[in-house]
Amino acid sequence: MDDKFLTIILAAGEGKRMASALPKVLHPVAGLPMVLHVAQTAIASGSGALAVVVGNQAEQVRGAVANHSLKASFHEQTERRGTGHAVLAAREALREGIEEVIILYGDVPLVRPETVLSAREAIAKGADIVVLGFETAMPTGYGRLIVHDGELQAIREEKDATPEEKSITFCNSGIMAFRSRCILDVLEAITDDNAQNEYYLTDAAEIGRAQGLSVKAIAVAQEETIGVNDRVQLSAVEHIWQERKRRELLLAGVAMAAPATVHFSHDTMVERNATIEPNVVFGPGVEVATGAMIRAFSHLEGAKVGEGAIVGPYGRLRPGTELARGAKVGNFVEVKAANIGEGAKINHLSYVGDASVGAGANIGAGSVTCNYDGFNKHHTAIGEGAFIGTNTSLVAPLSIGNNANTAAGSVVTDDVPEDAMAFGRARQVNVPEKARTMREQLLAIKRSKKD
Ligand code: UD1
Ligand code: MG
Repeated sequence: MDDKFLTIILAAGEGKRMASALPKVLHPVAGLPMVLHVAQTAIASGSGALAVVVGNQAEQVRGAVANHSLKASFHEQTERRGTGHAVLAAREALREGIEEVIILYGDVPLVRPETVLSAREAIAKGADIVVLGFETAMPTGYGRLIVHDGELQAIREEKDATPEEKSITFCNSGIMAFRSRCILDVLEAITDDNAQNEYYLTDAAEIGRAQGLSVKAIAVAQEETIGVNDRVQLSAVEHIWQERKRRELLLAGVAMAAPATVHFSHDTMVERNATIEPNVVFGPGVEVATGAMIRAFSHLEGAKVGEGAIVGPYGRLRPGTELARGAKVGNFVEVKAANIGEGAKINHLSYVGDASVGAGANIGAGSVTCNYDGFNKHHTAIGEGAFIGTNTSLVAPLSIGNNANTAAGSVVTDDVPEDAMAFGRARQVNVPEKARTMREQLLAIKRSKKD
């Protein structure tokens, strides 16, 4: 981490076109607010100081960044007077000791750390200002980069460009890095003398040149520079993020036969040689160990899946679930806040919540922990090697000893000692001939009604 490297994130955007109650930069990509993706990129590229320029719904944006325990300073841009004006709102962050500054955007979340590092490298090689540009067949609306002899001469906004300049296809991404000793001199020289009467950050290029600085443009993939203004763009960004994650995991040795149908969270961790079948959704906080298998149509969040464990098809793991090595959670099984021991099995149609299940235990089909009394949650402890019969209701708080059994269909309200078997149901009685006599009675009633 380099304290001399400051990232300024412009996060004041209103985002009216999102038609949302949430500030634009807090809309999630892979479950993480966009502005936090940008902050993570800044940190991953070595930025030791973070300044966030907020405006609209500033408190919410501050809260989200602070909740993520990121040390950042916040600066308010009260009037929207252009990108140059926005950067100057963070003037206080440009304190002594800062040597490099990069400007990122809270609504441009796909920039990779490698890209920020390439801008830093250009500064290390002598550039004073570095602009990240991209090539596009459809440049309309973007600022055009005017490059001569390897130096960026100027950035021309669409509205100020001549027809000849409009034919340029190398465009401004908006991302700019500065050697910081020059930044204030440059920014303060920007005026609002243009078609939009805004203080354009982009004027920094021309002003820098006039001040004798070295101004460079480097190319970046357009994909990384996509900004989000509406929910269509947000979904496009989500799609690209998911594709990146899938590719990264496939290349790291995770087996996925239909990766396009698997949805990841920003923090999903999957070890090599794990298998993920089609149509699986990962919410935040999931770790899957090597050799584990997540079968089709499963939904996981806040869960750890141990080595060689199997989940699904149609499994649901909720927060606080930990499956030890070789545990099995089968179809239509929901597990919440529970430790499932090594090799334990919950194969069919169960709910196990607020529980611990010992190694090698077997939970029969349809068994349920009754963990909630309408007011409080209670714990169920199931010992190693226990055998919970089909359709057992385990009324918590409850403890089932090691190697104990419960009879199928039992409602178990009292603790069961080790090696004991609990019968929590009425004994069966067979009444001879009863089926036949009842059938005849009922038939007689039916006939009498027809007459
Ligand atoms: C800007 C660039 C343009 C570039 C394009 C890339 C300028 C003058 N132009 O144009 O060269 O091709 O981005 O998408 O920089 N913002 C503030 N406060 C303001 C104004 C803007 O925080 O007063 C923020 C916006 O919320 C947004 C970003 O700066 O995140 C860019 O602003 P926007 O209005 O989208 O600029 P463009 O006209 O798209
Ligand atoms: Mg824009």
